[in-house]
Amino acid sequence: MSSTPVSSPADLKEFLNSAAARTAASLKDYVDSLKDSPAKLSEAIGYSLFGPGKRVRPALVLLCHQAAGGSERDELALAPAAAIEMIHCFSLIHDDLPAMDNDDLRRGRPTNHKVYGDALAILAGDALSSMAFEVIAKKVPDAALASRLILELALATGPEGMIGGQVLDTCHPNESREVVDAATLPKLQQIHRMKTGALIRCSCRLGALCAMGTGGGNEATLQAIDTYGRAIGLAFQIVDDILDVVATAEQMGKKTGKDAAIGKLTYPSLVGLDGARDFLDEQVRIADAIAAQLGPHAALLSQLAHDLANRTH
Ligand code: IPE
Ligand code: IPE
Ligand code: MG
Ligand code: MG
Ligand code: MG
Repeated sequence: MSSTPVSSPADLKEFLNSAAARTAASLKDYVDSLKDSPAKLSEAIGYSLFGPGKRVRPALVLLCHQAAGGSERDELALAPAAAIEMIHCFSLIHDDLPAMDNDDLRRGRPTNHKVYGDALAILAGDALSSMAFEVIAKKVPDAALASRLILELALATGPEGMIGGQVLDTCHPNESREVVDAATLPKLQQIHRMKTGALIRCSCRLGALCAMGTGGGNEATLQAIDTYGRAIGLAFQIVDDILDVVATAEQMGKKTGKDAAIGKLTYPSLVGLDGARDFLDEQVRIADAIAAQLGPHAALLSQLAHDLANRTH
């Protein structure tokens, strides 16, 4: 009989609430410490950082830190948790701009550029991107670990990660979206793995790397967590695509039906809602298998994968 209690869904809710509160506190400390930033810029940054987001990515950093055998004291992992939320908020501000998805509503409120104008919104996104790397460099005392975390975050954010994915998703000159052939599904999967999956996968890796930096886990643990992150990263965007079809704006806090309206390539547009759900299930099965492999202390990872797959906003 195992003496390790398997965590219940109530534990997951508690973990997520606490992770969100701790991330918000650390983001607040950081924004409050900005002394020479123009007041309007700090305000625009704060508007997006402290909006009612789900804080999935920072929670993943902390959860994967724990699942990889990190110590109870996880303050170290709070720096990359805050950093990844900064990159995520930067990506949302830019994603909503008129030159990109041209959205007016985000997290139930007007988008950043609707409140602050395009120029300040672009610059607030740029500032958040710099701040993310700064927070890791400042708060992670082990220089080798800090440098590894910064490298991983830069790769996941940059041209081969989130930003590259946004380009593939947004800029497709001379390419007709009418043409669907055998290459379309792999292309769509690649866009999703890059624009959304890369940061989610990176969140998981940063948590595991922090655990390894303080004596937990090993290379095999990192590989397992990486496979988990890759699966839920793709799953997350498939669910976003599905919710854009089936959910309401009130539920989501952002406009829905917009992917079809602008002819965006998505899982439901390519393989239908049932087909999209089949692809989603496949990714959840991969995530589940990894959680089982990691053992009872990783039970929350499995619950989170199911939670994210079944989310309604
Ligand atoms: C929205 O991400 C953008 C995608 C990558 C699909 P989230 O659904 O995590 O947004 P918030 O942070 O909860 O608002
Ligand atoms: C967003 O994808 C991906 C990033 C922000 C990097 P979407 O454009 O589908 O996200 P929503 O639906 O606007 O949140
Ligand atoms: Mg977009
Ligand atoms: Mg968008
Ligand atoms: Mg979307």
